Amino acid sequence: MANPFYLRDVVSIKDFKREELEYLFEQADRFLEMGYEEKSKYGRGKLMALMFFEPSTRTKTSFEAAMLSIGGHVIGFSGARGTSMEKGESLSDTIRVMDRYADVLVIRNPMEGAARYAAELAEHPVINAGSGSEEHPTQALLDLFTIRRLKGGIDGLRVAVVGDLKYGRTVYSLLNALKLYSVEVYLVSPPQLRIREEALYDLKGMKVHLDVELDEALKLADVIYVTRIQRERFPHPEEYEKVKGSYKIDARAMRLVKEDAILLHPLPRVGEIAPEVDGFGQAKYFEQVRLGRYLRETLLALILNENP
Ligand code: CP
Repeated sequence: MANPFYLRDVVSIKDFKREELEYLFEQADRFLEMGYEEKSKYGRGKLMALMFFEPSTRTKTSFEAAMLSIGGHVIGFSGARGTSMEKGESLSDTIRVMDRYADVLVIRNPMEGAARYAAELAEHPVINAGSGSEEHPTQALLDLFTIRRLKGGIDGLRVAVVGDLKYGRTVYSLLNALKLYSVEVYLVSPPQLRIREEALYDLKGMKVHLDVELDEALKLADVIYVTRIQRERFPHPEEYEKVKGSYKIDARAMRLVKEDAILLHPLPRVGEIAPEVDGFGQAKYFEQVRLGRYLRETLLALILNENP
């Protein structure tokens, strides 16, 4: 297969086919084994611009680590503070300026549609690093890569998705990625944070079980994907206070989980997975972080090189 990622935007996971994801994962397997000497040729002489308008630890630093690992360079900013947006410069001009410097742009913005907007403006490829409650496609790519590595494949799995299904952009991207596979999905959430109707509409044709009890899902799942409540997306703080702390994976819950199941979380966690869970063999969220860096290395190398 010719490289389907070359000079391509990564705005929505829905823009990709299963065979394209498989191509990426096979290349990422290769990058996992590769030394710096070999992989550093893929980014040599290339510049990546980060434009993060929301806080980030993993996505921002893993893209930085990934670009440096393939021999490239990084510029950019975190938050509009310190940029000329403080003087009134528009988002569109800011994107156009960064596009004049960089070979690839990575944007995180609280507005839904912001990454698509950037992709339409920019000549260079744009990667969506999170757009409001809408999408976080590279998180979904690394989630699937992790599942595939740790479970030996994706087809046939039972996947429980637990937490904030209403505002969680990682959930929406993950579910749309899983739709390309033959899996059964179990959705667990407080009633106020059920998946949005329009999101459910996109999942037509997928085996999805709604409003599953947490304990039931923990017993049957091969993959348990937990998310935090997205406090920053709530229109009113009191609505957040009503659901805060309404679910928790602790040692008691872990005793229900199958021995060969894996527990994932896009992180950050803010109480929904107790620290005591870290010692359980099924807890794989930090391995997920590690694998994510390689997935992003691979993605950047494929975007920047026609024949990697
Ligand atoms: N998973 C994730 O997007 O983490 P950050 O918000 O720290 O980037």
